[in-house]
Amino acid sequence: MKVWTIWELLNWLTAQLKKNEITSPKQNAEIIISHVLQMNRLDIYLQPEKEISDTQLNSILKITSRRKRHEPLQYILGETEFYGYKIIVSNSVLIPRSETELLVEKIIHEEKSGTRILDIGTGSGAIVIALAKNLETEYIDAVDISKIVLKIAQQNADLNNVEINFFQSDIFENVTNKYDLIISNPPYISQVKYEQLPVEIKEYEPKSALQAENNGLYFYEKILQNAKEHLTKSGKIYFEIGYDQAKKIIEIARENEFSDIQVFKDLNGFDRIMRIFN
Ligand SMILES: C[S@@+](CC[C@H](N)C(=O)[O-])C[C@H]1O[C@@H](n2cnc3c(N)ncnc32)[C@H](O)[C@@H]1O
Repeated sequence: MKVWTIWELLNWLTAQLKKNEITSPKQNAEIIISHVLQMNRLDIYLQPEKEISDTQLNSILKITSRRKRHEPLQYILGETEFYGYKIIVSNSVLIPRSETELLVEKIIHEEKSGTRILDIGTGSGAIVIALAKNLETEYIDAVDISKIVLKIAQQNADLNNVEINFFQSDIFENVTNKYDLIISNPPYISQVKYEQLPVEIKEYEPKSALQAENNGLYFYEKILQNAKEHLTKSGKIYFEIGYDQAKKIIEIARENEFSDIQVFKDLNGFDRIMRIFN
């Protein structure tokens, strides 16, 4: 049987992935090889002549055949990185996105210590884990409707050595505390837009984490209708929002007696974060 070097395999895998219309095929091939060989991506280029063992080759081929069917690499490898922290993912949780790192960045920059936080729709727990690592907080509660998701969130909190109170709740249903910050990156994709999503997302990520009724506005509406009960006097709400939803969410906020509202753009110039003062 032929013995492959890292360099030969990198080129072959890249071509295979490209043929199957995987975006960034070379980057994907690098990640697969470095994951299986347990090396840094840079090492691929420092040791191009290193030979691959049969066991390693088998693992690489298995991962590649799943990736060729457009399964997200993060689900295949069972992990991703968010704000520099390792986050375990399975196909029952949404893969945390880089836009959401911006939400975390904003909160870390704008908020002081001693904060009481609630995260609604916590998923993998990525947002609250990054906040717990970077803000001095009094306590952090984080809810999700799905118990399976909450188990993964707890594993991620343990992995990153942070203390967060995760509990099951349909939005505010089981929430009794008051908070300085209520944060949410809820499902916000409308039914029409959901149908147009790429295979990577539509066929592999949980629909319940992505799609929302009322043209994608359901969660913003429910949260804003009930938030006053759970916010301290000077409390704030931070939302991640869809690029075309700011105007409608501002209307909903005003209907619910919030008047001080700010919208921030992402790196592509799209409306992405909203801050609402109590
Ligand atoms: C867009 S994902 C966000 C996950 C994570 N916060 C992040 O930013 O990566 C939305 C999350 O809301 C949860 N969810 C859906 N319906 C919910 C409900 N009625 N109450 C609480 N959480 C809900 C989903 O299970 C999912 O984990």
